[in-house]
Amino acid sequence: MQTKKTTIISGVPRTSVMVAALRTLNTNSFIKEQLEKDEKLDAHLLPYYENIYKKENFVSKTKLSVYDPYACFFSSTEDSKTIILNSLDKIAESCPKVFETQMFKDHLIDSGLPADLTVDGMINIIKDSSPLKAWSLVSFDSFNNHMALRTKFIDDYVLSNIDKYQQFVILGAGLDTRALRMPFSNSTTVWEIDFPETFEYKETILKEAVKIIPPISQARNIHISGNLAGNNEWISKLEESGFNKNKPTLWILEGLLMYISNEDIEILMNQISSISPTNSTMLIQTMSEEYNETSKVQTMFTSPLKDEFKSSTINPEQYLIKCGFTKEIKTFNEPDLEKLYLSPQSTEVGCSALTGFTIGYK
Ligand SMILES: C[S@@+](CC[C@H](N)C(=O)[O-])C[C@H]1O[C@@H](n2cnc3c(N)ncnc32)[C@H](O)[C@@H]1O
Repeated sequence: MQTKKTTIISGVPRTSVMVAALRTLNTNSFIKEQLEKDEKLDAHLLPYYENIYKKENFVSKTKLSVYDPYACFFSSTEDSKTIILNSLDKIAESCPKVFETQMFKDHLIDSGLPADLTVDGMINIIKDSSPLKAWSLVSFDSFNNHMALRTKFIDDYVLSNIDKYQQFVILGAGLDTRALRMPFSNSTTVWEIDFPETFEYKETILKEAVKIIPPISQARNIHISGNLAGNNEWISKLEESGFNKNKPTLWILEGLLMYISNEDIEILMNQISSISPTNSTMLIQTMSEEYNETSKVQTMFTSPLKDEFKSSTINPEQYLIKCGFTKEIKTFNEPDLEKLYLSPQSTEVGCSALTGFTIGYK
């Protein structure tokens, strides 16, 4: 699907592809669920069904449905498969014992693979698989659940506030496609900020994807390339592109802050606050300090990314309080979201110790 080589496969931008891959599997689960409920799909789901799902319908086992019809375009590339292979190399190097654990063996059996598969065997299978099949083989249920909860929570928050703001800014936007798939009106602008290599990949792929899946959003969508850590160039670019610092804004920082040091987070938060009037809102996702490096699932997840993680916190509210987003602050940890979306008695466990979502108003 992709014709041009980009640098999405290295550094922190590659994490956006990992996220998109999990969203693809969850989106396919959503379509599968719709098909089981009703033989006939809603008309707006047909382009996805005809062009994507009918060709490759790898699903996740999450009980929560989310729908991001663009995610598959980002995760069906050879670049995305290279990201898996590089991650497996890293896991083999830094925690080879993971492949010998019962948890991993259970995952292999669950995926229809031999339980005694070695890391080299896995690498060979991935090499011979389509990118999407490869992602389905390396995605643990807990990652899929985490991504479903996270996507659903932020989607719902945006949807219920969509008419309250004309300015939405998504920092570390990666391959987030809310600017296309949410029903924003034409009086809205959605800015996305990330590194140039992320946008190079995103724009190349979306140019073709929107021909297959027409966006429902009518918002203006502006990409700002820049570094959000210890740098203020992005603010001038934002203002030069029409951002009005006197208009309330909804700021979304999903899957970003763990890649920024605490010192740079403080600078970033103050930068955001300096261009946010009263009634602006900030939604941040943070990684908990409680996350357990020795936990096997975390090791699978964190080992390829450990060079990228720069911060964690047990007190995300402080980030908001310190920069003046002090009203009605509320944090939702993953178990809260599981209760909200799955069931009050839910025993599902995502990477629950891993992340929380905090919302505060100015
Ligand atoms: C895990 S991805 C999350 C993407 C998106 N927010 C989502 O949840 O789908 C993290 C993204 O943050 C971006 N990022 C990390 N550090 C950054 C920085 N200092 N400046 C700009 N973008 C950054 C990465 O390039 C990547 O696209």
